[in-house]
Amino acid sequence: MITQITETTADKIARQKRHLTPNYRQAPVIFTHGEGVWLVDRENKRYLDFVAGIAVNCLGHNHPTLSAAIADQARQILHVSNLYFTEPFLDLAEKLTDLSFADQVFFGNSGAEANEGAMKLARRYMRKVRKEDRFKFVCFRDSFHGRTYGAVSATGQPKYHDGFEPMLPGIVHVPYDDLDAVANAVDDQTCAILVEPIQGEGGVRVPSPGFLAGLRKIADEKGILLIFDEVQTGVGRTGKWWGHDHEGVTPDIMTLAKGLGGGIPIGAMLCTAEAGKGFEPGAHATTFGGNPFACRVGFTVMRIIEQEGLCGHAAAVGEYLLAGLQSLVGRYEGVTGARGRGLLAGLGVDPKVIDRNAVIARCRENGLLLSTAGEDAFRFTPPLIAGRSHVDDALERFERSLREVQESKKA
Ligand SMILES: Cc1ncc(COP(=O)(O)O)c(C=O)c1O
Repeated sequence: MITQITETTADKIARQKRHLTPNYRQAPVIFTHGEGVWLVDRENKRYLDFVAGIAVNCLGHNHPTLSAAIADQARQILHVSNLYFTEPFLDLAEKLTDLSFADQVFFGNSGAEANEGAMKLARRYMRKVRKEDRFKFVCFRDSFHGRTYGAVSATGQPKYHDGFEPMLPGIVHVPYDDLDAVANAVDDQTCAILVEPIQGEGGVRVPSPGFLAGLRKIADEKGILLIFDEVQTGVGRTGKWWGHDHEGVTPDIMTLAKGLGGGIPIGAMLCTAEAGKGFEPGAHATTFGGNPFACRVGFTVMRIIEQEGLCGHAAAVGEYLLAGLQSLVGRYEGVTGARGRGLLAGLGVDPKVIDRNAVIARCRENGLLLSTAGEDAFRFTPPLIAGRSHVDDALERFERSLREVQESKKA
């Protein structure tokens, strides 16, 4: 596709940006289309996409089977409300429960909304089913759960609370990967522990083996619920369907979004039949949740991941990527080490030595899209369809960009 440009990208952004609320820091590029692991801007420059919409475009861009399903569904039915059933709605719920610990699903539209649903279900289960006045959540420092009031209150990063206080009451933040701190924080008003199996936004932090199992044990001993926020780690991203699959532990509630829609907004909260008793008709809802268009897309994404064996593929390519990133340690000043699992990979750096934003801008000039995570990491989240040759290409562009930024600093 060739775009006819009548105005430069810089001019178009400068002219139209004033119509947007100023809460995003966008790079000065306008994308028009994509193909596989590549994105293309309106000047027809190509970029290797190792952001994938922040771990969303798991099938890359313009996947032919997904695009065909989208077109087909658009010709059939887009929305009917939750007053009725549709086939995609039922099919995706069945697929998600077949492939997970869960018995039941509630659909929403985003990760934050899935977490709101999880938090509301946990409180309501305790009050209505167990008849206990438990409303507190044990959450983690450096966690990220989204920007709605419940989700952002659960998020353990004060910068996201700034100016929005008072936050939702009843949330206690403890250090990640610290089971003693969790055990001490649980009291007779706690309803649930809410945790990411790997902290994504917090810096691609993988907890010690046994951490999730330890949380399960505490939850069982104290009679509270365990919620895994798998919005970033779910749907094959870590090389298995769910991030918790690596630890052989299951939660009572799990939240999903991002990769589930492959680029179409959808969120889901999955739970056991026992936890699901906390809701009855009318207890919770959202107009667009379970919409047949989004569910057909989610169902198709899951089927393609299954058919193309993308979980195993992501595990193998992820290992290759992590090894490549680790090989940069010692070769570049300020690179501290690779971390992550599957295609959720981080490269830790010393931010006093490496200006991450400058490197990311240089990567963009060199045709590679990357993001940051936490205070000290670059984040690599390519589509699950990325192969070793894409990784080689990305690493070459990344190294070149790192070198150029370091050289320009010395000059
Ligand atoms: C672990 C986790 N939970 C929740 C969210 C929020 O999802 P959304 O932006 O779709 O509301 C994110 C987004 O980055 C996330 O990484």
